[in-house]
Amino acid sequence: MKALILSGGKGTRLRPITYTGAKQLVPVANKPILWYGIEAIVAAGITEIGIIISPETGDEVKNKTGDGSQFGAKITYILQDLPLGLAHAVKIAQPFLGDSPFVMYLGDNLIADRLDGYLATFKSEQLDALILLRQVSNPSAFGVAKVDEMGRVVQLVEKPKEPPSNLALVGIYFFTTAIHEAIASIKPSPRGELEITDAIDALIQEGNPVGARELEDWWLDTGKKDDLLEANRILLDTRIKHKNVLGEIDSESKVIGRVEIGAGSTVKNSTIRGPVIIGSNCQIENCFIGPYSSIADEVILLDADMEHSVLLKGAKVIGIHQRIVDSLIGQRVRLEVAPYRPKALRFTIGDDSHIELV
Ligand code: TTP
Repeated sequence: MKALILSGGKGTRLRPITYTGAKQLVPVANKPILWYGIEAIVAAGITEIGIIISPETGDEVKNKTGDGSQFGAKITYILQDLPLGLAHAVKIAQPFLGDSPFVMYLGDNLIADRLDGYLATFKSEQLDALILLRQVSNPSAFGVAKVDEMGRVVQLVEKPKEPPSNLALVGIYFFTTAIHEAIASIKPSPRGELEITDAIDALIQEGNPVGARELEDWWLDTGKKDDLLEANRILLDTRIKHKNVLGEIDSESKVIGRVEIGAGSTVKNSTIRGPVIIGSNCQIENCFIGPYSSIADEVILLDADMEHSVLLKGAKVIGIHQRIVDSLIGQRVRLEVAPYRPKALRFTIGDDSHIELV
């Protein structure tokens, strides 16, 4: 059994963050999204992992993630020149996959469930594909399964205008080599991509055994800001279990609940109310940091209030006492308000940024 993680793509829905970096490396609870997937795959006993990368962000993914030894895995990187679809990614990974069955994992997806149980079902039922489904309120945004009275999948459609059910296809799939033939039989969709949904549908229509299971717990596709913040909230809630402070906190500060603070960080005259994670070498002074905040390394926060937000490495926020909420702030961003009542707003903001003064 091998694994194929898709970490290429365009990431248009997470601009401007994705102009300069891979969306799969954006941290949630201070760990790149991609790494949760690698860990889940290794926990299911699969250690031969291929990662699809793009020319734009491939080097960053490679440099950060390495050869896999830190996860107890062997990682092979596979360059996809253009993001021509999920099934196209499988096609170019064929030399790596050989005649092995594999789990395919979209690098921006996160699930709570372990993979072992699904892997066991895939093997014991001798399926050519096992897909995972989850009920969603907006099925038109996903691949959707049509199921019969027995719960068998009879058809799959990609982003249908009139969805046949509310069961969306989760970005984790188990395949035998039969999928390669199915991919060879399909044509690009109207949006110009080779769709994995069409390839699985081809398997179904050809009578190959295709199974489906509904996920028991949460699933998040972190490709958009609000979903990423929700993933951050859930992971802080489930993974930060205790207070663990390596940095220095002065006697004027209060650190309440489940809070992790990395080495070399200093907290002065501030209140931090968990669950919160703060990286190393951060400077925090006269601040309130509320629940569900993840603050990466080397962040400076002076005279600022925030909660339910993710700040990336090297960001600086100074003098903002209106509470910053539901925000994703990129690497080295500088947000500053003058200590006297400001008379003007002065911006240098990247393309596709969103600023809301509410
Ligand atoms: P998507 O989120 O569907 O596509 P995208 O990354 O291009 O994002 P957007 O829609 O915001 O422009 O892709 C799911 C995952 O698969 C994601 O981790 C990127 C990866 N991917 C590839 O590796 N190759 C591809 O050709 C495509 C389409 C996606």
